[in-house]
Amino acid sequence: MLGAVFTEFLEMVEDKFSFDVADKILEEAGLADNSSFTAVGNYDHGQMVKLVVALSKETNMEIDDLIKTFGAHLFGQFVQKYPMFFDNVDSSLDFLQGIEDKIHTEVRKLYPHAELPSFECVRHSDNVLEMNYSSTRPFGDLAHGLIAGCGEHFNDNLTIQRIDLDGSNHVHFIISKE
Ligand code: HEM
Repeated sequence: MLGAVFTEFLEMVEDKFSFDVADKILEEAGLADNSSFTAVGNYDHGQMVKLVVALSKETNMEIDDLIKTFGAHLFGQFVQKYPMFFDNVDSSLDFLQGIEDKIHTEVRKLYPHAELPSFECVRHSDNVLEMNYSSTRPFGDLAHGLIAGCGEHFNDNLTIQRIDLDGSNHVHFIISKE
């Protein structure tokens, strides 16, 4: 997992909780400090799981809720850092439908070592999109949070139905727009 994802996560923890909490979870996960990560370095996704488990202990919040919150936060950061991906798109479902072929394809060019999931999409109508998430990493909750963050960004009221097929590694999402 890219170091940039870790630094975004730790910034979110500092903002929503505190510097102390960020320090504590780094220690608990066996990491020295925030500077352990460089933006384009690659790190074991298991370390992210350790950080989230430590954050859950520290805050008494559920792991899946924390990862979803992080997904929504991350989407907001993507909006700021990659404005070019938002040109000429005015609907959350159109944007989501392009994740695999447009967005993540470009991400792969920028960061050849990025480990990206795959999304198979079926557009049922203007207002209904089915996305089948599949990854070697268990980040279905992250996808869920990113989808929710996308809806918020476009001011679309999305209902996200979700069926977990293999833990959090394979998840069917059926997303409807009101
Ligand atoms: C401008 C929008 C987006 C950009 C620039 C972007 C970019 C990235 C980057 C850089 C990573 C990290 C790769 C790594 O750690 O090696 C990533 C991972 C991921 N992205 Fe995106 N992404 C975007 C939108 C989305 C959306 C809307 C979704 C959900 C539908 C999504 C789902 C995921 C998931 C779940 C991962 C974690 C890796 C995994 O599950 O295997 N992304 N993305």
